[in-house]
Amino acid sequence: MADKKTFYITTPIYYPSAKLHIGNTYTTVAADAVARFKRLTGYDVMFLTGSDEHGQKIQRIAEEKGVSPKEYVDEIVATIKHLWEVMDISYDKYIRTTDDYHIDTVKKIFKKLYDQGDIYKGSYEGWYCTPCESFWTETQLVDGKCPDCGRPVEKAKEEAYFFKMSKYADKLIEYIENHPEFIQPESRKNEMINNFLRPGLQDLCVSRTSFDWGIPVEFDKGHVVYVWIDALSNYISALGYNNEQEKLMEKYWPADVHLVGKDIIRFHTIYWPIMLMALELPLPKQVFGHGWLLVDGGKMSKSKGNVVDPEILVNEFGVDAVRYYLLHEIPFGSDGVFTNEMFIKKTNSDLANDLGNLVSRTVAMVQKYFDGIMPAPKAKEEIDDELIKLALQIPKKVEESVNKYQLPEALEHIWTLIKRSNKYIDETMPWALAKDEDKKDRLATVLYNLSEAIRFISVLLASFLPTTSDKINEKLNVELISWDSLASFDGTRAGSKVQKGDNLFPRIDVEKKLAQLEEIRQKQLKEIEKANQPKMKPLKSEITIDDFDKVDLRVVKVLECEPVKKANKLLKLKVDLGGEVRQVVSGIAKYYKPEELIGKYVILVANLKPVKLRGELSQGMILAASTDDDSKLFTATIPQELPTGSQVR
Ligand code: ME8
Ligand code: MG
Repeated sequence: MADKKTFYITTPIYYPSAKLHIGNTYTTVAADAVARFKRLTGYDVMFLTGSDEHGQKIQRIAEEKGVSPKEYVDEIVATIKHLWEVMDISYDKYIRTTDDYHIDTVKKIFKKLYDQGDIYKGSYEGWYCTPCESFWTETQLVDGKCPDCGRPVEKAKEEAYFFKMSKYADKLIEYIENHPEFIQPESRKNEMINNFLRPGLQDLCVSRTSFDWGIPVEFDKGHVVYVWIDALSNYISALGYNNEQEKLMEKYWPADVHLVGKDIIRFHTIYWPIMLMALELPLPKQVFGHGWLLVDGGKMSKSKGNVVDPEILVNEFGVDAVRYYLLHEIPFGSDGVFTNEMFIKKTNSDLANDLGNLVSRTVAMVQKYFDGIMPAPKAKEEIDDELIKLALQIPKKVEESVNKYQLPEALEHIWTLIKRSNKYIDETMPWALAKDEDKKDRLATVLYNLSEAIRFISVLLASFLPTTSDKINEKLNVELISWDSLASFDGTRAGSKVQKGDNLFPRIDVEKKLAQLEEIRQKQLKEIEKANQPKMKPLKSEITIDDFDKVDLRVVKVLECEPVKKANKLLKLKVDLGGEVRQVVSGIAKYYKPEELIGKYVILVANLKPVKLRGELSQGMILAASTDDDSKLFTATIPQELPTGSQVR
């Protein structure tokens, strides 16, 4: 007997840096729908998800909270696993990069690449974005900020190991061009080739010494493996590559698809394939980059405080309402939008009206006209053919859409059948047939056909809305729920007893629920605001009034102001101090245009010993307040005119 066809699908492994929001949830729900669908259609599926637990960001958060990194990630990982339970995620394996077997694999990969000369030791200087764990060169920055997330970057220089990416670049370009299905959607492929590969790949820095929460480089103490090398390896360490886990490489590798958000396509279509080439392993068959779920016009993100908590929605509306929205509202390869209002309206129209009514009307009629016992079809009419023909066509269409990861399109196909079935009720008017004893056989056939169409719908929906599908089967007392049973329109068993049960999707009062959700959101925002308040720097040691009195602070008026040549941070000011004109150099050019300061009354440390800055004399210092990361700065000003030279005490 031939082995079952296999299907290996992965999600990214999530940073346990905060509770996940509904945007993160998207990838995993989409992967779950595909995994379930593949199981249903006869594949032996390996569905992998997990968490990416190393790196500076995690170490910093743990430090701020005063716990060890491992204690911290354990706590968050528990919330992630709980969320996947809530969302009905049917993963086969959950990998943590802190798991021993994974660490083992990464150490061996690093050593092997070093031994064969693909990794070498050097040093680097550049810019690091801690939230993204990404290293950037000067030219890659956008307005001096991280090109991916737009947040400030930090200067970094250290001795480090490098991966000779450039060595494999041509081979990768060739591979991508010969395998048009490798990067999907197509537009992302062009972006990778034109923006990254063609301009020339720089060698990638693959170790860090500035922190220690990572997998150690065994042959060089003090170095830890770059978190992306660590993270990407999960896709094979989970299959037992170079470790003591169950040996699954042969069975499942290469992966059929890595499902990822568009922000991390570059890592999956450049670094990861090159790592695999260096390891002489086949490349994944496809990397599929999906768009983002946007709120208020921007990407939902943990640090922006615009997150929607999936669990709150699940508690209010049920898991399948949330799954449906996610699977239906993010179009193939592009972004989708989330608003509470759209979510509730969609739930009402598609789930409560279209699907819910179809099922409840049908079951109610079987109860009313046949005492709840499914009748056998006895009097076929031509009008039935259209419904039956459509039902028999839909499974193939759904399968084609899922195979292309066009999940909204797959759902659209299913809804065509749902809508057609509702129309069939209007066309056949069972309530009119019921009035005529002679039409009893025809009525039986109509209700049988409706039930059978619903059985089709239930099997088709099983991968997307598993709970709803189970509930429908229970109501109709249906047993034939295999994919193969969709080959013929006769799987509903006459004589079985139907059950009304609760409504699948109760109608939601839009205004009322919106107000409730808004209230919850406001509460959440307040909590996030509180949690995001930067921690104040500790106070300096105590001084006496005499210490303070040594500092002579005076009000001065800015008379002139201009940039200092070749020093882009500095401004040169001429200030009036009680009739005396002084020159002061101040590092505030990033925050003020010279003309903005002229005429202002600011505060000068007037008895500070003069110094030369970039060749310019500075007689004193202007007081200013700034954030710890210097992203914001304001000079201390006197709001109204005061004689210059007035003391500040
Ligand atoms: O990137 N809409 O982890 P992560 C849709 N650890 N998807 C979103 C989203 C949004 N608003 N916000 C985030 C990492 N995502 C790495 C992965 S894989 C070897 C390592 C998606 O927790 C994002 O695109 O920052 C990514 O695919 C996933 O959530 C995990 O993001
Ligand atoms: Mg991210």
